[in-house]
Amino acid sequence: MAKLSVEDLVVAYGSVVAVRNVSFEVEDGEFVSLLGPSGCGKTTTLRCIAGLEGSSGGTIRIGGEVVAADGRDVPPEKRGINMVFQSYAVWPHMTVFENVAYGLRTRREPAADIKRKADEALAIVGLGGYADRYGTELSGGQQQRVALARAVVTSPRLLLFDEPLSNLDAGLRDRMRFELVDLQRRLGQTSLYVTHDQSEAMLMSDRIILMRNGEMVQAGSPRDLYDRPMSRFAAEFIGNANILDTVVVRASDDGGALVALADGTTIEARFPWPDRRRTSGPVSACIRAENIEQVSADDGTNNVFDAEVMSVAFLGSTVTCQLRVGVTTLRAELPARRPPSVGERIRIRIEPDAVVLVADH
Ligand SMILES: Nc1ncnc2c1ncn2[C@@H]1O[C@H](COP(=O)(O)OP(=O)(O)OP(=O)(O)O)[C@@H](O)[C@H]1O
Ligand SMILES: [Mg+2]
Repeated sequence: MAKLSVEDLVVAYGSVVAVRNVSFEVEDGEFVSLLGPSGCGKTTTLRCIAGLEGSSGGTIRIGGEVVAADGRDVPPEKRGINMVFQSYAVWPHMTVFENVAYGLRTRREPAADIKRKADEALAIVGLGGYADRYGTELSGGQQQRVALARAVVTSPRLLLFDEPLSNLDAGLRDRMRFELVDLQRRLGQTSLYVTHDQSEAMLMSDRIILMRNGEMVQAGSPRDLYDRPMSRFAAEFIGNANILDTVVVRASDDGGALVALADGTTIEARFPWPDRRRTSGPVSACIRAENIEQVSADDGTNNVFDAEVMSVAFLGSTVTCQLRVGVTTLRAELPARRPPSVGERIRIRIEPDAVVLVADH
């Protein structure tokens, strides 16, 4: 196990800059995700760390050792890392045991050690009884577990994952997310995980690094990214937010502010980041659908609005509604016990702390 440190990483393909001055660290034993839309540079960053891609600038350290800097690259097999890909790459002509033992054999470890370590790794991923099966005799989920066992068996300093669960069906993917995190916690493996799926990143990670167009836009715990987005992009990408164009009417020193919609409706809100406050001008107000509550009467608190129910869709524990407030449409998630009906006029309240202001300009 070891700490990973990436400093000012730049990767250019001719005139295309795929990764631009990306810097982050993954602490010993930590699980960190690189999250962002397709083409934002996640795989490229991961491949540079693995040594499968050369960088144009920056420094990569694993366990304090420089593995890439100024065109000096330590070859992949000398970096002490293992990688799990989207395609399981389980060798079909080998048994499960041989698939897992392969990395140990290439290191010429004693036969007894190979047997013990491969058996342990198979037990860890729940494939103890499958050692003699061939790669072709396994389901997708089992193949992915073989790939995991193969990755952990050599006790690498760092585990890298590139969308390893995206070929699995929804149910199995959901189960494997929990299993993988559980495995990672038990082994205490330093892990960097690439995904474009925000709920996957939220569920699995100690910290998330959000990327866009080759750049890092925000890093923090899942909670932090959800509650305190730094940009409109972050608010839109993590969770489902209503994003409203507003202008600042007044702002106070504690981060509280009053903002107005185009039709003059005012909303109490807050700036989550002290260094990103505005005292005037346009800002985006982000309101999570689940932070809109239905209230029975105007109780004199702030941020109570009249709304017309435009649509109601049943989701199980909640209903998702389109609400018209003045000229603005809001998506709200309300409890399914007493859902409103289409056409009904209701009253809603939004906690001022739940109206998060971000300024992108
Ligand atoms: N070998 C290459 N030559 C030229 N451009 C490349 C090459 N590999 C990647 N790119 C470009 O670099 C950018 C980043 O690609 P990358 O594969 O890192 O994205 P990603 O975030 O992993 O996306 P996805 O979620 O689709 O896998 C993209 O614009 C891509 O087209
Ligand atoms: Mg990718």
